[in-house]
Amino acid sequence: MGADDEQVTGGASRGLPVRAEDVLITSGGQGALSLLFRALAAPGAPVLVESPTYPGALSAARAAGLRPVPVPMDADGIRPDLLADAFAMTGARLLYCQPSCHNPTGTVLAPERRGQIVDVARAAGAFLVEDDYARHLGHGRPLPRPLIAGDRDGTVVHLASLTKPASLSLRIGALIARGPVLRRLRDMRFVDDFFTARPLQEAAVELLGSPSWDRHLRALSTALRERRAALADALAAELPGWRIAHHPSAGLHLWVELPPGLQDTAVAEAARAAGVLVNAGSRYFPAEPTAACLRLGFAATAGLAELREGVRRLAAIT
Ligand SMILES: Cc1ncc(COP(=O)(O)O)c(C=O)c1O
Repeated sequence: MGADDEQVTGGASRGLPVRAEDVLITSGGQGALSLLFRALAAPGAPVLVESPTYPGALSAARAAGLRPVPVPMDADGIRPDLLADAFAMTGARLLYCQPSCHNPTGTVLAPERRGQIVDVARAAGAFLVEDDYARHLGHGRPLPRPLIAGDRDGTVVHLASLTKPASLSLRIGALIARGPVLRRLRDMRFVDDFFTARPLQEAAVELLGSPSWDRHLRALSTALRERRAALADALAAELPGWRIAHHPSAGLHLWVELPPGLQDTAVAEAARAAGVLVNAGSRYFPAEPTAACLRLGFAATAGLAELREGVRRLAAIT
C-alpha cells in the first residue's frame, strides 16, 4: 500500500498512518476486548497478561474461556526476558498489555523494552494486544508512540477508546489491526450486533472535529495533573506508610501498597462505610496477589477538597 492509499482516521492525533480498512469501531474498549479475546484464541488457550492488570480484561478473557497467565512487571513495565520464558512455557499465542500507561500501576514501558516485547511476541508467533486506553489522559508529558506505529507485520492489535476522555456513556472505541485478523474481527462483530449505531459514530466524529476538543484535552490534562498531585501530597502527609508505587504521567489512578498488617479488602470495605470509594487491589491480579494494594481514583471527585477529605477519612479508619 502506498501513502496515497493511507486514509488517516482516528489515528491523526496519534501520528499513525492508519487506513480506514484497518479500523473497526467498537462499543468502547470493553467491547473491543470481548471481541478480541474470542477472535484471537480458542477456548482453553492461555493468554499472557501483565500482573497486576485491568480486571475488565481478565473477565473478558475468562468469559472467552481463556486462561490468563501472569507475567511479572517491574518499574519499567513488563519484563521481556520473563515474557519470552512465559511464551515458551505456556505455548501462548496472545499477549494483552498496556505499554503506554498501565492500569492500575501507571507504569510506562521503558523505551528499550518497547521493540523487544513486540519482537518476543513475533518470535512466538503471537498477537500482542496493545490497550492504549490512556492516550488522551496524559498529565502534560507526551506519552510514547504506540507500539503499532513501529509494527509492520501485523503482530500488534491496537485498542483505543473515547469513553474516558469524552464521556463514560459515549460507548465508542476502535481496534486497529492489519491483514486477515481484521476481517475475522469484523465478521464476528457482525454476528454479535452488526455495528455501532451510526448516530453515535457521527456524534464522535463531530466531537473530535470540533475546535473545542483540543481545548478540552488541555483542560483535562491540567485537572488530572492537579488531582494526582493533591492526592499524592495528602497521602504523604496523612498516610506516610502507604507506598505510592509510581507517580503516573497519565491515567486516573494511584496504585498504593499498604503497610504490613493491612488487608486490601478490609480497608476498601471500611473506606466504603466511611463514604470513600477505593478499589481493593486483589482483583487486579490474575493469580495470587504479590502485595496488599489499593487503587485510588482521583478523577471522579468534585474537586481537590473532596480528595483531601477522602484521604483524611482513610487515615481515620486505619
Ligand atoms: C485498561 C482499560 N482498558 C479498557 C477499558 C474499557 O474502557 P471503555 O469500555 O470504557 O472504553 C478500561 C476501563 O476502565 C481500562 O481501564
